[in-house]
Amino acid sequence: MTSCRLCSSQAAYLIEHAKMMLCRDCFIKYYEKKIYNTIMKYGMLRGAGRVTVAVSGGKDSMALLAAMNRLVSEKFPGIKLIAIHINLGIEGYSERCQEIVENVCEDLGIEHVIYDLSSREGYRIPDLKSTPLGRRICGACGTVKRYLMNRLAYEIGSDRLATGHNLDDVVELLFEFYLKGSVEDLVRVRPVSWSDNPKMVTKIKPLIELTERENMYYAMAQGIPLLAASCPLAKGSRMLRRKRLIGLIEREIPGFKHMLYKSHVKRILPRLEKTVPEPSLTECEKCGMPSLSNMCSYCKLVSRLAARSAENST
Ligand code: AMP
Ligand code: FES
Ligand code: ZN
Repeated sequence: MTSCRLCSSQAAYLIEHAKMMLCRDCFIKYYEKKIYNTIMKYGMLRGAGRVTVAVSGGKDSMALLAAMNRLVSEKFPGIKLIAIHINLGIEGYSERCQEIVENVCEDLGIEHVIYDLSSREGYRIPDLKSTPLGRRICGACGTVKRYLMNRLAYEIGSDRLATGHNLDDVVELLFEFYLKGSVEDLVRVRPVSWSDNPKMVTKIKPLIELTERENMYYAMAQGIPLLAASCPLAKGSRMLRRKRLIGLIEREIPGFKHMLYKSHVKRILPRLEKTVPEPSLTECEKCGMPSLSNMCSYCKLVSRLAARSAENST
């Protein structure tokens, strides 16, 4: 029997980068402490009253929701948590995601909003396949999710929007943006995106220093059901290929992911923030939400989809 590093019980989880085995109870304490430290280090909940947690039904955001629920009741009792879930209409996948979200929120007693893309917006993510955006469907889906998560959090009156982005997600983004040299994107890879625009909710990433595996362990330790399959549209995507490659680098250079993230946040980001100007936002002429140009990228996407449907019906 391998013993837990912190007590003598039977170890159940291996924290790879720290080469540490922990039992279930010590792992839960370690995980929640890490989130708490991240929240405090970056002042994520300073002055917050209403926090929306965007949950996909996957292990990361469900682990985030369960841990935030405990932290809020223990350490931030003045905060109200609300979960939002967007049903993307991906057959054989989205139904299961929504079911997990509803079950976990009901078990934990968390108020939740389910936003059904098909009935509310009139299309499903697979419909984007028939447009030129279909070649990079995950990218288009990302535009939809980012826009709706912000709009829903704003409509709910939240002052923070928490997402389940983890260390692996962030390192994958850094890898892509450093390779391309896209400094405007690199400067947006940060634990908190503060906003003073009333229609743009401040975004926080409390899991940014935790790995995908740690989130999976926490979900398992808390009895959260895991999705049996990942999104069928993302299969073979560049993002997944890059994550696999980063996993190989981590095996050769243990600590690589933590090192890249820390160098970015501590050394590069402060310099980029001084030199890369914040984009100036205007209002989208169609939906009134913040936008970089006359029409926001979400409304552009929806217009392209509508144009394609009109072409197909003539
Ligand atoms: P992804 O872009 O799929 O890696 O997701 C990043 C984060 O966005 C997740 O951790 C969630 O916080 C949020 N998210 C993704 N999909 C959804 C969804 N369908 N509904 C609500 N939030 C989501
Ligand atoms: Fe968006 Fe799969 S969840 S393409
Ligand atoms: Zn718009």
